[in-house]
Amino acid sequence: MQTDSVAARPRFFDHVAATRADARAELCRTLLEPTASIPPKFFYDRLGSALFSAITELPEYYPTRTEAAIIAAHRDAIAHRVGRGATLIDLGAGDCRKAASLLDVLAPAQYVAVDISSAFVSQALDALQRQHPALETVGVGTDFAEALWLPDAVRAAGRTFFYPGSSIGNFAPSDACAFLARLRAQAGADGGLLIGVDLVKAVAVLEAAYDDPLGVTAAFNLNVLRNVNALIGTDFDVAGWAHVARFDPAASRIEMHLEARRACELRWPGGARSFAAGERIHTENSYKYTAESFTALLADAGWAATQHWIDPRGWFALVHAVPRAGSAAGPVPA
Ligand code: AVI
Repeated sequence: MQTDSVAARPRFFDHVAATRADARAELCRTLLEPTASIPPKFFYDRLGSALFSAITELPEYYPTRTEAAIIAAHRDAIAHRVGRGATLIDLGAGDCRKAASLLDVLAPAQYVAVDISSAFVSQALDALQRQHPALETVGVGTDFAEALWLPDAVRAAGRTFFYPGSSIGNFAPSDACAFLARLRAQAGADGGLLIGVDLVKAVAVLEAAYDDPLGVTAAFNLNVLRNVNALIGTDFDVAGWAHVARFDPAASRIEMHLEARRACELRWPGGARSFAAGERIHTENSYKYTAESFTALLADAGWAATQHWIDPRGWFALVHAVPRAGSAAGPVPA
């Protein structure tokens, strides 16, 4: 660990450029599916990340605030479970604020901020490093939805994955299970997981959180079209699309869509598609769990929950888990 008072610059590894061709191919494919979709990871260009930060300030968007209150109320118990001196790997670190609130009690040996938005997370990590000059930090710009690429600079010992905010809800349950199993394989036997999960609750509360009266979530959803324009050269006219967010109780998920206000023709180098008025592009699912259903998902992925912390309204859970006895830490599952 560094001991002088001059802040080291975080070491930053940008892996996003290496996978840009894959991202382009994925978008061209999903836009041409019978029901067009745009994977939610494409929300997070620099403006999209800033809009998401604004969403977390909205009175209607309870997850971030509720999770922060759980962390504040149970800091010592969380630190007791995680232990000091871990390699704290913050997945989807964004502005790094959540992990920052735990750094003093966790005292990690190394803090690793991972995010698909390289520019946004690298700026946030620079600011965090100035506040914690003695902390060893590593930044990684990468899309970790399908595989988590980590540079050799990330310590192997005591890896605790911190995945707050219920971002796990943006995966379909089977994909969430595969993702958690990959983390299990990369954690090693002495690793751990500290993960936030949004819980099932009244539909009105859920829908207000994803369709706020200020229109910030609508702007976040619509901005994905600008990012897609920048990435693959589509000619989306943002004004021609409307934000839609609904809870589907059967699937236990909020669905976000963009709905065409009028018929339009979309073109990009190498592709084209027409949309009828009212036709939708599916942009995000946000699954809501019960404490029991999430514990079962963790078990299927090779993790044993050691403790849940839940807020007094029962809206959100923070869960600590360790590798399940007998579950192999073998090769990373596909
Ligand atoms: C990042 N993720 C957990 C957010 C969610 O609640 O599913 C993304 C979001 N979408 C709309 N509002 C927030």
